Amino acid sequence: MSNIKFFSEEQIPLEMHKVRIVQKLELPTVERRFEAITEAGNNTFLLKNRDIFLDMLTDSGVNAMSDRQQAAMLIADDSYAGSETFIRLENKLREIFGMKFFLPTHQGRACENIISQVLVKAGSIVPMNYHFTTTKSHINLNGGQVEEIINDSCFEIKSNNPFKGNMDIDKLEKLIKKHGSDKIAFVRMEAGTNLIGGQPFSLENLSEVRKVCDKYGILLVLDASLLSDNLYFIKTREEKCKSMSIREITSKLASLCDIIYFSGRKLGCARGGGICTKNEDVFIKMRELVPLYEGFLTYGGMSVREMEALTIGLEETMDENIINQGPQFISFMVNELDKKGVPVVTPAGGLGCHIDAMEFVEHIPQQEYPAGALAVALYIASGIRGMERGTLSEQRNPDGSEVFSNMELLRLAMPRRVFTLSQVKYAVDRILWLYENRKLIEGLKFTDEPKILRFFFGRLKPVSNWQENLVKKFKEDFGDSL
Ligand code: F0G
Repeated sequence: MSNIKFFSEEQIPLEMHKVRIVQKLELPTVERRFEAITEAGNNTFLLKNRDIFLDMLTDSGVNAMSDRQQAAMLIADDSYAGSETFIRLENKLREIFGMKFFLPTHQGRACENIISQVLVKAGSIVPMNYHFTTTKSHINLNGGQVEEIINDSCFEIKSNNPFKGNMDIDKLEKLIKKHGSDKIAFVRMEAGTNLIGGQPFSLENLSEVRKVCDKYGILLVLDASLLSDNLYFIKTREEKCKSMSIREITSKLASLCDIIYFSGRKLGCARGGGICTKNEDVFIKMRELVPLYEGFLTYGGMSVREMEALTIGLEETMDENIINQGPQFISFMVNELDKKGVPVVTPAGGLGCHIDAMEFVEHIPQQEYPAGALAVALYIASGIRGMERGTLSEQRNPDGSEVFSNMELLRLAMPRRVFTLSQVKYAVDRILWLYENRKLIEGLKFTDEPKILRFFFGRLKPVSNWQENLVKKFKEDFGDSL
């Protein structure tokens, strides 16, 4: 990996690409930001992009494509069945994962629907290093239950553990013994564990999980949506892998799994998804569902143009000087905030910078959604859109009681190659201001609460007029500045 030192000894990430297409941004006034978030029901998902300065909601489908990806889109072979484009994508996946079978889908959760329908039954249990929202919903919809087999430092905000996404092997074995292997639909490992702050697992941990799966005859499924960050962390943090190439690490990792699925909106910087497997029996069962929910077997709901871009994006994922960009920018942002005492998840993970709302706004009780309130406050203070990853993103128990999330995080995603370092510095600056003024932030309550995945389109209101006070303080401190 190229290692570029600065004469000044400053440590900043250096972009290993140049920007050749740009999109103009607007930063609305603080008054307009307050108005816009009110119109959006205090839910950042409902903001309009025209009101947003830096969109850090997600890295899903919004990473910058490379020139080679754009160029490949022009040679897409547009046919319903048997297109050359599909063959190119299938071959690329076979090459990097070494699995014989591939089923295309329109995005990651579509893979979860198909995998859950085929493998999960009423009463099934799915152990995993941590759940993702859509994954859990699909498993539950099919009558199954998620069991998180986390390691002890998984929820530690400040940590030196380089692999907080590792599964606890002893706990996994205990769980299998308790329920019997027949009950276990599959074991799921999530690369770059999303909801705990983009934290990776190690290659060694995955090998140990594989051994347990072998012992009890259980399938091992990898959610590879955030694989590129995880690969970077394996390469840079795992002693035994330092001399391996990204391609070698990928191939070793894939050889341990029975099924690999991914959101192409994250992995491969395009839009789409797919399921790879070496298990013919599972493939045949899943194949039936693709034309039913996705599209014919050689496009699965994806546009052929995106499939071409995905093929190149997957190839580029094997280049460490490409995949290091996200984690390095994230690490810069996390370290700048950490130095100033802002509670952020450490070590810096993939996906984005994660602020610990439980501490940042410790005066807000969990039933008033601290991370959701912080997301709203940051938008008012900066025009930056982040995403709540806490209690709001959970689903109520059948009796209507809240499921309090283990962590209350405000996620500020870092779409790859989209923001410059000065934009990241602006984000850090406004977060520091907000931290100084954190006592002004108060909670939220629902005015309209959907039953499933409520965080997507639920509407809320502030518990008091705290937002007016925040705007007033902003005007006092920043005057006419946007
Ligand atoms: N698995 C993981 C680990 C994810 O992060 C996502 C999506 C999915 C599955 C579902 O994929 O969106 O293509 O259907 N994460 C996005 C995010 C939505 O913003 O973190 P999808």
